Amino acid sequence: MIVLGIETSCDETSAAIIEGDKKEPYVKLLSNIVSSSLLLHAKTGGIIPEKAAREQVKYIIPVLEKALGEGKVDKKDIDAIGVTVGPGLIGSLLVGVETAKTLSYIWEKPLIPVNHLYGHIYANFVSEISNLKSQISNIEVPEFPAIALIVSGGHTDLVLMKNHGNLKWLGGTRDDAAGEAFDKIGRVLGLSYPGGEHIEKLAKNTSEDFFNFPRPLINSGDFDFSFSGLKTAVFRQISQIKNLDEKTISSICYSTQQAIIDVLVTKTLNAAIEFDVKSILLGGGVAANNSLRGNFKFQISNLKLDTKFFVPEKRLCTDNAAMIATAAFFSTKGRSASGGNKIGMPWQKVDAIPDLYFDTAQY
Ligand code: KG4
Ligand code: ZN
Repeated sequence: MIVLGIETSCDETSAAIIEGDKKEPYVKLLSNIVSSSLLLHAKTGGIIPEKAAREQVKYIIPVLEKALGEGKVDKKDIDAIGVTVGPGLIGSLLVGVETAKTLSYIWEKPLIPVNHLYGHIYANFVSEISNLKSQISNIEVPEFPAIALIVSGGHTDLVLMKNHGNLKWLGGTRDDAAGEAFDKIGRVLGLSYPGGEHIEKLAKNTSEDFFNFPRPLINSGDFDFSFSGLKTAVFRQISQIKNLDEKTISSICYSTQQAIIDVLVTKTLNAAIEFDVKSILLGGGVAANNSLRGNFKFQISNLKLDTKFFVPEKRLCTDNAAMIATAAFFSTKGRSASGGNKIGMPWQKVDAIPDLYFDTAQY
């Protein structure tokens, strides 16, 4: 089954083609084109939604054409179209959704609405191995039940995944997302937007947690997160420093990063132990952080957990359409996606996040 994915929830305009076989654990990536308006937003130190939406309009058609071209796929080969329907910036989302609806109508292909957060989880089910069947047997495959940590600029969520399509939200941030904390602290330190990868780079200059910032809710006993207090603590510390030289900035970056990592790793491993899962899956832009990846591996081995650890390759951590096409593909498992211009059912709703979806009935 060949799926065209479209992702426009924020500042990336992306289209991708994947090929899936229901008997295989991974899908094959045929193309994944991502155009980002990040540099534009770097000038304003953050995203202005109206500007992001206008950029989506500019790039959606060229990105789609490139994805079809690189994937060497003709429209007649496409079996379904998956599109991000939320959460995200409404103006940006509408560009992708309206484009997908139009293509679905004129090409007579089924349309599958995809939750952006599920997309981030499904980045773990993408393979770039060209000959999937012959090589898949000797590589690790995610097994269920699994705990997924989605950690991005807009979200920090822990999800229990019992199987494909069976997801239960366990907890999430009560205020700022982890990526948002990185970005806001980065801005106060004078780093370019988005701050996450710059903080990671500067943190490499030291290995001492000099400031030992608070680890909010680390022992709260639930699966919620909170990063706004950490952000305030860092801001307060910065305001008290007279000479914010490079060495001090690196130290603040290290201590900020370590505080965020400690909370993310501790809470995720608590969930993994409580639900006795076989796999841990990471997703979202912050999952691109090497120290976070390393800390997870270290703690899993340190605690001798019998849990496999999966994290997508970096370009699939940040927003992309390959993950959306993959989520769309797996949402069709067990039922036919053919049959003209039918609309795919979204996965089981996660009750605890009421605004996770648009009203998909209208699509
Ligand atoms: O998933 P994503 O591309 O967009 C959202 O859905 O939000 O994530 C973007 C976020 C930003 O907050 C960015 O600072 C963060 O991911 N990020 C990182 C790193 N690379 C991106 N955070 C920490 N370390 C990184 N290497
Ligand atoms: Zn995202």
